[in-house]
Amino acid sequence: MDKIVIQGGKPLFGDVQISGAKNAALPILASTLLTEGENTFHNIPDLMDIKTIKKLLKSMGVQIDGNETCKVSAEKITSCDAPYDLVKTMRASVLVLGPLVARMGVARVSLPGGCAIGARPVNLHIKALQEMGAHVELNNGYIEAKAKKLKGADIYFDIQTVTGTENVMMAATLAEGTTVLNNAAREPEVVNLANVLKGMGAKISGAGTDTIIIEGVTSLKPTEAEIIPDRIEAGTFMIAAGMTRGEINVIGCNPHHLEALINKLRDTGMKISPIKGGLKVSSGEKINSVDVKTLPYPGFPTDLQAQMMAYMSIGSGLSVISETVFENRFMHVSELLRMGADIVIQGGNAIVRGVPMLHGAQTMATDLRASASLILAALAAEGTTEISRVYHIDRGYQAIEKKFSALGADIKRMTQ
Ligand code: EPZ
Repeated sequence: MDKIVIQGGKPLFGDVQISGAKNAALPILASTLLTEGENTFHNIPDLMDIKTIKKLLKSMGVQIDGNETCKVSAEKITSCDAPYDLVKTMRASVLVLGPLVARMGVARVSLPGGCAIGARPVNLHIKALQEMGAHVELNNGYIEAKAKKLKGADIYFDIQTVTGTENVMMAATLAEGTTVLNNAAREPEVVNLANVLKGMGAKISGAGTDTIIIEGVTSLKPTEAEIIPDRIEAGTFMIAAGMTRGEINVIGCNPHHLEALINKLRDTGMKISPIKGGLKVSSGEKINSVDVKTLPYPGFPTDLQAQMMAYMSIGSGLSVISETVFENRFMHVSELLRMGADIVIQGGNAIVRGVPMLHGAQTMATDLRASASLILAALAAEGTTEISRVYHIDRGYQAIEKKFSALGADIKRMTQ
């Protein structure tokens, strides 16, 4: 298993190119199950999670060639099974459920199970498909769904769910009649997927708002599209600039997808200005401690909460960080404490008292974004930090040590 070793204290300077968004590429690759013929997608990131969904789709008979530009053809689907051994490594595999039921009338998808950040049920995905006429049973840890033909329905999500919205939107494209998704997720990744589906011939309106209307059609055709930039990767690098007293150009990001973070980082004293193709981001004179509350988009993203906590752990005062999306997304706290942070958890809130300096330590990554927060803390800390179990980080960040090294960080990947 690899580990990452960082000598902290070096300010970051230079340009970083942001890759395609993992959480847009995953549903878009799954959506190819709805079409016969060859789709072409550009700006697909090179990540473990992308390799996993490609493996799953290939096991179903989908042809996939290429990496950053990917050609995907689901001419013939030979299996409608998403087995446990694949789904357990990546919960987003559940995104094949909606397309399979819509195209094939049947799907057998392992329940994803929980993960470090929470139980993460998929009950809302299942409830919506049942309301569209699917017969769904849970047997031996599998979702077994059948539907001769899905029917349009008026769906209400009592929690805004990103992949729930995506799964049901995909299913509804081939349903008979009109489906309305109320209290739908508004994330940019949902909009990217909706635009790809419209390119395939789907009739969708309202993506990006909390009400999405899908008028079913009889079939969809292949399309060519671009994956949007990864706003969470971009935000991670922006916070790194603030923590290391550096100044970087974040190239290829979409500033409109980052408004909540930009607003918050400016409150901490950072200077952020638009440049051609991205953002110029520099640290402030000092780090003002600010409160953060995670919310569904366009609120502050939960996927940047851990990174923001690392930043606030060297703030000038007290910061209250409230995690409202997941019930257990403070796994990074114990590791930050080992680096000298002063954090107390009270229910869904973390009380962060800024300290002048963090200190290097041996740490362990627990989940994707927690590992990113440890890298940020290590870059700002004095001394050496080792981060083990970096397979977590490879799921969601493309060549992260190369990108940080190109900005002047002393960061190495070692094979243990
Ligand atoms: C997506 O997960 C992202 N993953 C997550 O990113 C992200 O943290 C999350 O949205 C929130 O923004 C992908 O897009 C592949 P949810 P998702 O359904 O869809 C509850 C990363 O780091 N819920 O929006 O699984 C759920 O428990 C990952 O890239 C139900 O109760 O999240 C949570 O509390 C981590 N029942 C809340 O809703 C359901 O059926 C939001 O979850 C579905 C969700």
